[in-house]
Formats: sequence, C-alpha cells, structure tokens
Amino acid sequence: MGAVYGNEAHLGQVLKELEAKEGCLRSLEKLDCKYINLYWHWPGVEGLDPGDSRHSEYRAQSWAALEEFYASGQFRAIGVSNYTAKHIWELLMSCRVAPSVPQIECQPKIIQRKPRDLCTLYFGFRFNVYYWMCNGGVLGDGEVMDIVRSCGRTPAQVLLRWAVQQGISVLPRSSQPCRVQENAQVFDFQLSEMDIVRLDALNCGTRFCKRDSSKVA
Ligand SMILES: NC(=O)c1ccc[n+]([C@@H]2O[C@H](COP(=O)([O-])OP(=O)(O)OC[C@H]3O[C@@H](n4cnc5c(N)ncnc54)[C@H](OP(=O)(O)O)[C@@H]3O)[C@@H](O)[C@H]2O)c1
Repeated sequence: MGAVYGNEAHLGQVLKELEAKEGCLRSLEKLDCKYINLYWHWPGVEGLDPGDSRHSEYRAQSWAALEEFYASGQFRAIGVSNYTAKHIWELLMSCRVAPSVPQIECQPKIIQRKPRDLCTLYFGFRFNVYYWMCNGGVLGDGEVMDIVRSCGRTPAQVLLRWAVQQGISVLPRSSQPCRVQENAQVFDFQLSEMDIVRLDALNCGTRFCKRDSSKVA
C-alpha cells in the first residue's frame, strides 16, 4: 500500500468489512452456535468521535457484512439497534436486505416519533422497544397514576398498553413470576385516545440508556 498507488480508500474499506465479518464470526464462535436467530447492529463505531463523518461509511460496510451472514443462513435475521431516523433512512436507501425489527428505547418520556413513523408508515415494519418503564422513572408520574386509577390497571400495564396499542412490540423482562403474569395481561383492556395523548405529552427527550446514539453522524 502507498499513496502512490491511490488505493488507501479501497483498502480501508476492505479492512473495515473484514473487521465486521470477524466480529460476526466471533459472536458465532463464542455462542458455539451454527446460526444466530437475530443479530443487531449499533450505528456507531467504538473509539470514533460521535460526529465523525466516517460512521456512515463504516455502518454501510458493517451492514454489508451482516447481509453476507444472512445470505449464508448463519444469521436468520439482521436488525438495527438504536438507529435514529437518519440512520434508518440512509440504510434503507442502500441496503440489499432491509433490517428486521429495529430496536430502540421508547417510552412516554422519549416517544421516538420520527423513527417510528419512518418505519411503520413508510416501510411497514414494527419497532421493538426496551426500557419501556424508564427504569421506573414514569411509574409514579401524576398523569400515569390518573390513568391507572381510571382504568383500574397497574402502572406497568398502562405503559405496556400504551406501546402495544400503537403497534410497538415490547419484550418486558422480570425476575418475578407475578410481574411476568401482570405484564402479560394487557390485551383485555384499551386506553382511550385521550389517554394516549396524555402519555405522549410526557415526551421530553429523556432517555435512560447510557449510550446515546442520537449524536452519531
Ligand atoms: N439495544 C440496546 O441498546 C438495549 C438496551 C437495553 C436493553 N436492551 C434489551 O431490551 C430487552 C429488555 O431490556 P431490560 O432487560 O432492561 O428489561 P425491561 O423489560 O426494559 O425492564 C426490566 C426492569 O423492569 C422491572 N419490571 C418488569 N416488570 C415490572 C412490573 N410489572 N412492575 C414493576 N417493575 C417491573 C424489572 O424488575 P424485576 O425483575 O424486579 O421485576 C427490571 O428491573 C433485553 O433483551 C435487553 O437486552 C437493549
């Protein structure tokens, strides 16, 4: 390699793709599995400044690597995690395989309208969300408690119903069997449109995930 050959950019791209493939192979090896059901991709590269313009290029290269693993059957599905609307749009404009199930933090304090609309209205796929309870941060909120009283459900059920009723998929985790049962009982009641509007109005951009992907270029 050398400047005189004018091939650094191409070699850089090949090396990045190889790095991504190595990461995928390491995951398969560590899990000791022939295939992985769903592999997620984070939008940024570790060690790079969030505003670095190379994130976008590296994202595309990593996704190309994931597409190869998908084509070979080693990844049964490939998804994106914590992608913003911009990241998703960029990916959808260039990918061969569209991401299945984008995963993002979404709860009444950060309702993620833009990426949700982009995915559901324009491309017809659903979101999977985590931190649906804001680490407990909205459970005692006045608006939530008003709705809890009016529908006779628990705060957790109201928050889960808020998501489910808008077509958002949630995989709530609990170490307590009674809570697992409680969380499953959200398909036998409805929130009113006004309840949804009131919960949406809690949106203030507060996220509980320590890593913030919204600044990743
Ligand atoms: N892509 C990402 O960056 C990212 C980030 C975070 C998480 N995730 C993924 O999202 C999934 C879920 O996240 P998570 O594990 O943090 O779980 P979660 O479902 O968002 O929250 C779990 C917490 O909620 C509590 N809880 C559950 N049901 C409750 C109820 N009915 N009442 C009160 N508290 C209740 C649990 O406590 P108890 O156990 O005591 O009930 C636990 O502390 C995981 O698969 C995780 O890997 C992804």
